[in-house]
Amino acid sequence: MLNTKVMGHRGAALLAPENTLASIRAAAATGVTWAEIDVYPLADNGLVIFHDDTLERCTDGTGVTEEAGLDYVLSLHAGKGFANQFAGEKVPSLSEALTCFQELGLGLNLEIKYGGTDVDRVVPLIIEALRQHGFDNNQLMISSFNYEALVKCRALDANLHLAWLCEDIPADWAEKLAAIQAYSLNCDYQLLTESQARAVKAAGYKLLCYTANDPAAVAEHWGWGMDTIITDDPRLFL
Ligand code: G3P
Ligand code: MG
Repeated sequence: MLNTKVMGHRGAALLAPENTLASIRAAAATGVTWAEIDVYPLADNGLVIFHDDTLERCTDGTGVTEEAGLDYVLSLHAGKGFANQFAGEKVPSLSEALTCFQELGLGLNLEIKYGGTDVDRVVPLIIEALRQHGFDNNQLMISSFNYEALVKCRALDANLHLAWLCEDIPADWAEKLAAIQAYSLNCDYQLLTESQARAVKAAGYKLLCYTANDPAAVAEHWGWGMDTIITDDPRLFL
């Protein structure tokens, strides 16, 4: 399963436009063996690799992401803020991204970016796409800030490696992780304390931290038991 201390973030977001196929390829080109991307469900049940609740920052489109349809989002230019070499980059569908990870042999941390409550609609779409691709479970972690989405994942598949994403780690973290048979806790390195890190590790979970682009900022976290750092530029840590 997870065999790396370093994981790309949104592909490798400092090296190519975030959450694009170019960014996934850029992560693999650094030599890193795992990368995180965000999957965002659309109004018509389309699934795209995208982070924001609105389309403006990362594309030439406009509007609220969850209200957009698949054809529209797939038509958008996603190379904003980067040089001309990325002029052709589009927002990838989940299926395109899964194929890319499989072709590269890259481990996937798929973050379900869904803030709503209709997990019965959204989560099965994602699990079905993974199944259709025959995605290797040992090359796959599913993460989310949306705990109910993870509960639904577990109900659908007993074997998935589930990661609960937290900012401030809540007091009931141990019960929450146990209830979904979690694989890991993925938390903000800036909010994590040494005692929390040691407790999570003592309870038997992997501990991943996001998003650091300065090795000095997480130097002490390794000693606390942090397993993996999620970074926009894996070259800084490899
Ligand atoms: O998975 C770690 C990280 O991606 C969570 O935050 O906002 O970058 O998706 P965000
Ligand atoms: Mg993310």
